[in-house]
Amino acid sequence: MVADDATGLKKVQLRSSAGSSAEVFLHGAHVTSWKDNSGQEQIFVSKQAVFKPPKAIRGGVPVCFPQFGDMGPVKAQHGFARNSEFTLVNATTDSVKLSLNPTKEQRQGNFPDHALFVKVTVGDNTLTEELEVINSTEAESPLKFTAALHTYFRISDISQTHVQGLSGLQYLDNMQNRQEGTDEAQVISIAGEIDRIYVKAPDHLKIVDKKGSKVISIHKTNFPDAVVWNPWVEKAKGMADFGDEEYKEMICVEAALATSGPVELAAGKSWVGTQLFKTSKL
Ligand code: BG6
Repeated sequence: MVADDATGLKKVQLRSSAGSSAEVFLHGAHVTSWKDNSGQEQIFVSKQAVFKPPKAIRGGVPVCFPQFGDMGPVKAQHGFARNSEFTLVNATTDSVKLSLNPTKEQRQGNFPDHALFVKVTVGDNTLTEELEVINSTEAESPLKFTAALHTYFRISDISQTHVQGLSGLQYLDNMQNRQEGTDEAQVISIAGEIDRIYVKAPDHLKIVDKKGSKVISIHKTNFPDAVVWNPWVEKAKGMADFGDEEYKEMICVEAALATSGPVELAAGKSWVGTQLFKTSKL
């Protein structure tokens, strides 16, 4: 089940009976590929991504835990899960479950003990990802965290792509010190850098890729917020592990527990958040 990638890192390859497939690296429990039944890649990974732990892979689906961005107690932006090596729990042809029991060092000293599981399943033009957190401490104080499944979707052309489901919502603008705004547009079209946390976003969202004649439907649960990010020209140029022109072929739509968090998990309790993607023709 576990194979060696050309980068030297370990990965698990999944295939559904319907024909869709995925790849999940043990490093970060990072999904780096999801192809639909026709074999078309739906996930963006930068050609300049660095596959060298503990660096996070640029693209795919980084697992942001125990915090989204800086919304938590650890130093690492988006938390330490995406920088950590996971362990295989079990795998079938179409599904894999990985776990992380971080050491004190990985927890950066100031985050309590816990267990983290990531389960990825491929189906009929679908990919499902489940994040489970268990507060395995016996401490009185709850485990507090924010989180996100930070998906980089591969699209044909950003200028012909829009996101549906966020109209009329309040957002926090990460480019303006998290200043509040309201999105009045019917659909979110991207014509410049965007970095917004949409607060209490609906669980069903859609990415419409007109040039690629496809729709990716997103169904999230227990992730109250949604983040939309595209670095555009200048930021792309400033990122060493991202090509200057690659912003044209990706969009991040992230299932997030950000501003609506943190979750406070009592000792012995668990929390599960999921995202499901399905492709269809436009
Ligand atoms: C997004 C954030 O989720 O991730 C952005 O909203 C950030 O502010 C982006 O730039 C990428 O983050 P990183 O740490 O992977 O470079």
